[in-house]
This record gives sequence, C-alpha cells and structure tokens, in this order.
Amino acid sequence: MSISILAIESSCDDTSASVCTDGVIVSNYIANQSVHEKYGGVVPELASRAHMQNIVPVVDVALSSANCQLSSISAIAFTQSPGLIGSLLVGAQFAKSLALALNKPLIAVHHMQAHVLANLIAEEKPGFPFLCLTVSGGHTQIVLVESPVKMKVIGETLDDAAGEAFDKTAKLLGLPYPGGPLIDKYAQLGDPNRFKFAEPKITGLDFSFSGFKTSFLYFLKNAGKSLVYKEEFTATDEEQQNFIKENMYDICASLQHSIVAILLSKLKKAAKDTGIKNICLAGGVSANSELRISLQQIGEKQGWETFIPAFQYCTDNAAMIAITGYYKYLNNDFADLSVVPGARAEW
Ligand code: KG4
Ligand code: ZN
Repeated sequence: MSISILAIESSCDDTSASVCTDGVIVSNYIANQSVHEKYGGVVPELASRAHMQNIVPVVDVALSSANCQLSSISAIAFTQSPGLIGSLLVGAQFAKSLALALNKPLIAVHHMQAHVLANLIAEEKPGFPFLCLTVSGGHTQIVLVESPVKMKVIGETLDDAAGEAFDKTAKLLGLPYPGGPLIDKYAQLGDPNRFKFAEPKITGLDFSFSGFKTSFLYFLKNAGKSLVYKEEFTATDEEQQNFIKENMYDICASLQHSIVAILLSKLKKAAKDTGIKNICLAGGVSANSELRISLQQIGEKQGWETFIPAFQYCTDNAAMIAITGYYKYLNNDFADLSVVPGARAEW
C-alpha cells in the first residue's frame, strides 16, 4: 500500500502545504505574505493572522492538485519548531485537528532538519554520510547527516545568520525586505571585486556575521572610503545616498561575493576535517546564484559530489516537511496529540 503524507509548513511568513506519495512530491503549494514588505521584516502578529486566512485554501489546493482525497492520506506532518510561535501554532493546531478528525497519525517535523532533507526530494540523492550547509534567514549551520533520521550540527553562527547578513545590509542600502533576492539580482550587473569588507576571525567551523555587518555600516557612512569608523571621512546623508545610488550594482556584487566566500571557506574546512565528499546546500540563501555556481566550481576542484535542492525547495516550503514526514513515517516516529510547537528546538 502506498504511503501519502500531507504536510503543513507555517514557521514564518509562508503558508504551505504539500502531498508526498512514496517519497515523491506530488504537490507543493505556497502562499506568500506580501503584508510584511513595507515593515522591512516579518511582523509576527500579522504573519499569524495571514496563516489563519491562508491555511484552509492552501491545504485544499495542495490536495486537489495532487488529485488526493483526505481519506487516502496516511499521516499528517507539520512544522513543530523552530519558528515564530504564533505562526507555528496555526499550522500545529490545524494538523492536530485534522489528525484527530481523520483518526490518522501525526508527525512533528524540525524545520531545519527538513531544510536539510529537501536534498532527498530530487531523483538524484546524496549518499550518506553527507554534509549540508544550511543557510536561511534565521540559521547558518553545517550539518553532518548520517541518515534521514540521524544528523548533528557541527558548526553554526554565533550571531547573525547568512540570510540576516543579506537582509540587514540590504536594508542599509534602502532595499525592501527580504533583501537577499534583490542583492542577488543587482549583483549580476556589478563587479564582485570592487569593494572588500571585514572578514570574520572565527576559527573552527562556526560562523560570525556581526563584524561584517558593522564594517559594511561604516563603509556606507564613509561613502566607501573606510571599513572602520573615522570621523574625518564621515559623509553627509546626501553623499551616502549618492554613493549608494551610483555604486549599487558593485556594492551588491562585492557584498554577495564576500558572504559567499565566508560560507564556502567553512564548508571546505568541514569537508577536510570530516573527510566527507558528499556536499549539499539547503535553506533560503541556497537560492543565491553565486553560492550555487561557486559550490559547483569548488566541488569540481575538490572532487566533491554536490547537491542543491531545486529552487522552489530552497526557501520555506511544505515539500521538505512532507519528505521528512515520509522518512519519519518509515521510522515509526509519530507524535501524540499533546505535542506543542516550540519557537526554539533541540536537535
Ligand atoms: O529558509 P528561508 O526561506 O526562511 C527561513 O527559514 O529563514 O530563508 C529566507 C532567507 C532570507 O534571508 C532571504 O533574504 C534569503 O533567504 N534569500 C536569499 C535569496 N533568496 C532568498 N539570499 C540571497 N540570495 C537569494 N537569491
Ligand atoms: Zn526556513
């Protein structure tokens, strides 16, 4: 008998539902929330309300485009943690109610583990063990994956995530939220070697982006003259705005180039330290075109097998929750109806 998982993802500002049958994604529908754009970041209260409005139609579309009846679903998977608690509550409550009403098993999924397992959606899957660089708006981690149900974090950011480095620097440039995709777009038109920014001095496999962000702030304050604060260089607001306007493409290209270099140098170190040559990307920032191309180029040089989820499975989506749910189902890893979502999560 085939196994069909209905999955729900509502950890941040996207409401998504997906159906996965025997490990193959048959539908994945995402409703984005444009309401946050004007606030320069996700407003949790507004996100929860939008999830409430979206969840029923989103699940309906996912089921109908998969040609699937609720009666033929084997289990319901949902994002339990981490994320915005109000957002998680909407998806968790909906999944629990559905499981109760249909008398079907419930599967609780860790959002970051699901990002990693998005690499198991494609037909060509990485062999185990593999390393995954998971880069999203809230996380930057290197994960050692021994099986779909056994993985551990071997390096992570001590402060800002890579997505935040993109979004916060974009905000300083006056770009709307989320800034990552726009920096990527403008970077294609600029010179990646024109400007240099401070490199983090963190040893080992951990990351840090806060010093990088500060150096970028001073770089703008000094209209490109210095990475450290120097009063004599401080530009007027008008000079700063003109500098940004005239150099936007080169600034974006240089920014992106620096962030990608920081990420890939740690990934290289992790591969060397562990001897693992199956290397994956995951999370929203893995949609970044330079990161994708550079990973492939480094991979060829290092003799790695590299894997990157299809574009639509990089940013938040329920297909990754569904594939994780499928492997948890095979492993008999079910939640009971007392399960509660959590803003933070243990691995
Ligand atoms: O995984 P995700 O969709 O949500 C979280 O769980 O955080 O990641 C969102 C992050 C945002 O910071 C966004 O700016 C970034 O992914 N992002 C990108 C690109 N597309 C999305 N960053 C750089 N380049 C992109 N093309
Ligand atoms: Zn995510």
